[in-house]
Amino acid sequence: MTNSADWTARDDAAVWHPFTQHANWVDDRPTVVERAEGPWLIDVDGRRYLDGVSSLWTTTLGHCHPDVNAAVTEQLAKLDHSTFLGTTHTPGIELAERLIALAPRGDGPDLTKVFYAGDGSSAVEAALKIAYQYSAQTGHPRPKFVRLEYAYHGDTLGAVSVGGHSLFHETYKPLLLETIGIASPGDRALGPERNARAIAELQSVMRSEGDQVCAIIVEPMIQGAAGMFDYDAAFLRAARELAHTSGALLIFDEVATGFGRTGKMWAAEHAGVVPDLLTCGKGITAGYLPLSAVLAAEHVYEAFLARPGDTGPRTFFHGHTYTGNPLCCAAALANLRVMEELDVVGQAARLGERLGKLLEPIAAHEHVKEVRRLGTMIGVEVEPRTARTGFDVCQAARERGVWLRPLGDTVIVMPPLTLGETETDLLVDALAEAVDEVLV
Ligand SMILES: Cc1ncc(COP(=O)(O)O)c(C=O)c1O
Repeated sequence: MTNSADWTARDDAAVWHPFTQHANWVDDRPTVVERAEGPWLIDVDGRRYLDGVSSLWTTTLGHCHPDVNAAVTEQLAKLDHSTFLGTTHTPGIELAERLIALAPRGDGPDLTKVFYAGDGSSAVEAALKIAYQYSAQTGHPRPKFVRLEYAYHGDTLGAVSVGGHSLFHETYKPLLLETIGIASPGDRALGPERNARAIAELQSVMRSEGDQVCAIIVEPMIQGAAGMFDYDAAFLRAARELAHTSGALLIFDEVATGFGRTGKMWAAEHAGVVPDLLTCGKGITAGYLPLSAVLAAEHVYEAFLARPGDTGPRTFFHGHTYTGNPLCCAAALANLRVMEELDVVGQAARLGERLGKLLEPIAAHEHVKEVRRLGTMIGVEVEPRTARTGFDVCQAARERGVWLRPLGDTVIVMPPLTLGETETDLLVDALAEAVDEVLV
């Protein structure tokens, strides 16, 4: 029988992994995942690991959910793929209707149109191009974007341009779009004034350069890849107001926060604010298949409609081969159906509360700097001992049957939204023991 060691040797010979330093990969033997059931990943040797990060923040209902499996299988028997350029299909239409019905409501325009993309980055890329083209088609071209320090919006060049994560983004600086970075309202280093400081910087930028800014882009309420920097809703209300008065669009990147992760369907709901463009991905298909979307306000969509006297086509010349793939849409529809039937967003809110309580002793650990949480999005920041302390804690948890992944010194905990009580206890116990073991 082929075991983990054989597979990892073959992996070493043939595969280049994302976000991976392959010089160390040889020491950090990867888990060779063969199967998954609910919250469990099972490797080729039969070992089980609790998926403590929802397979990079995607799994909502747990793996291989029977309803999603059935929906994808049923769709597979009908239509595998047909292009969304020039044709349409029923799962794509139904999903767009469902997303519009579920879209956040509040201060801001209703989101009434859905533009599909593939991964989170490609949704962000589309939103940035829409914002720029919108400015050109409604007044004058505004080439700049306002972004937050420590932001992460993906790895394509537009998405990297609006990022603020130096480790991931610094290398590509000479290649990037023009952006204006402002302080993050979640940056602990700025102390309790961080929110006021971010708002003041945004006000100042919009006053001086607002007519050159086509969009302000933020991860609403919590900057995930920064290490779970949660922040005050007042920042989003200020951003809504400032975007509106300066004629810039407000983009909420809900790729990580959408679909219940924060204990509400959208992070935007915590602030009662609606953006002009909302990007989503990850959990949309329950973590099955790559699909993302940009939800757009009607006024944005209308700016792309041809009208008499136009000198240009106004068309959004953008799309991908697999845009709106029917299998992905079927998975997403099934996910959203189950989420509604089982009140998964309510479950996520309760799971988050429970995790918050169970993590209190870890938060009080003398070598843990902070535990940050919004709903089920959690970061446990530990004191660095080496350059890889976060990684070491995750390795120690893995030995206890819990699979976690760090962001620097912050151990991320982001389990499937339907995680049961026993598994939740196991996750927290393994993390507590791992922290004790590494941070003696
Ligand atoms: C807020 C946010 N936007 C965009 C992305 C990029 O998504 P993807 O990795 O699917 O391209 C991520 C990924 O973590 C994210 O957290």
